[in-house]
Amino acid sequence: MKKYYLMAPGPTPVPNQVLLAMAQPIVHHRTPAYQALFAQVREGLKWLIQTRQETIVLVASGTGAMEAAVTNTLSPGDKVLVVRAGKFGERWAEICKTFGVEVVPLDAPFGQTVPADRVAEALKKTPGVRAVFCQHSETSTGVLHDVQGYAQATRQSEAILVVDAVSSLGVADLPMDAWGVDLVVSGSQKGLMLPPGLAFCTLSDKAWERVKQAKLPRYYFNLLEEKKLVVKNQPHFTPAVSIVVGLKEVLAMLQAEGLANVFKRHDRLARATRAGVEALGLELFAKATPSPAITAVFSPKGIEGEKVVATFASSHNITIAGGQGEMKGKVFRLGHMGYVGDFDVLVALGALEQVLAELGYPVDWGAAVGAAQKVLAEHPS
Ligand SMILES: Cc1ncc(COP(=O)(O)O)c(C=O)c1O
Repeated sequence: MKKYYLMAPGPTPVPNQVLLAMAQPIVHHRTPAYQALFAQVREGLKWLIQTRQETIVLVASGTGAMEAAVTNTLSPGDKVLVVRAGKFGERWAEICKTFGVEVVPLDAPFGQTVPADRVAEALKKTPGVRAVFCQHSETSTGVLHDVQGYAQATRQSEAILVVDAVSSLGVADLPMDAWGVDLVVSGSQKGLMLPPGLAFCTLSDKAWERVKQAKLPRYYFNLLEEKKLVVKNQPHFTPAVSIVVGLKEVLAMLQAEGLANVFKRHDRLARATRAGVEALGLELFAKATPSPAITAVFSPKGIEGEKVVATFASSHNITIAGGQGEMKGKVFRLGHMGYVGDFDVLVALGALEQVLAELGYPVDWGAAVGAAQKVLAEHPS
């Protein structure tokens, strides 16, 4: 028997108490019991997203919330800016184009970021921009984009700022109202330590105004219809009841830890991971601010990234992730978000040493683990 470890940048492990909560018999969604449950979840989400706005909880993966953000705020022929510095930035552009929205890309090489002043400049130079789309944590490259800076730029314009926080909600600080973000989308299976299946859309007043004007077709993801019912703690369609039950449990866990501590824990584990990887002589893929959710690493010369991922699985029963798109074969990615602690990072780095040695890379035994332990000791939790 080889114990299984899920160390991918999503889905992430689900804590036992959450699994047990979700194993309870189904509560019917048109009952006072469900309404009471959802009332608690609503309040918890406001706390988590640091907003006074309601969150629309959809039955979808994160991409569903991305599509809902596009179709509910835009009309055919609208012009938008897309921060495109990774696979998920590309996804924003693909969704917009699918729905006949004109995309003005703001590109940066993968691994880098688009500075906020470029967004501000593009907004000034490009008349009629209705929205700016970006990631907070670009999971494909391991970079954290400057959402606060982007929000400063969009606040002074007609455009709304739409942020994909699929791998940053509950991982990195994103005070929606304080920063002036207009639409936050996320999913259940990353920082929220839940199974895949829930997606979230939270809109500012400016974004809700857009929803009233938007003409793109939508049926299942109709945020205005959802909002009418959310305030009564009722779902529009059949919700993923069990995951909502799990979400209540997760919110309680995060509240007990405290938001600042949640962010600090992720930052600390990410620093330890980076130190460990670099101690083995490997190069980080992120050349801009690294994401606290995930670390992307160049595979050593002569060793295919996919081979590293496959060896983690075959030799150690550990799931990590490879590179996506143009990064396929060049990088591997270690997730450290959600239900993770010090020893998860040490397991991942210990396994990395063994995997690389197995693939013929000269490993200084203990170098990665030791470097990570040093960071953890120097930054007590
Ligand atoms: C930043 C980001 N955006 C969007 C998605 C898409 O989410 P999903 O696969 O849940 O549709 C992911 C998933 O990895 C992600 O990391």
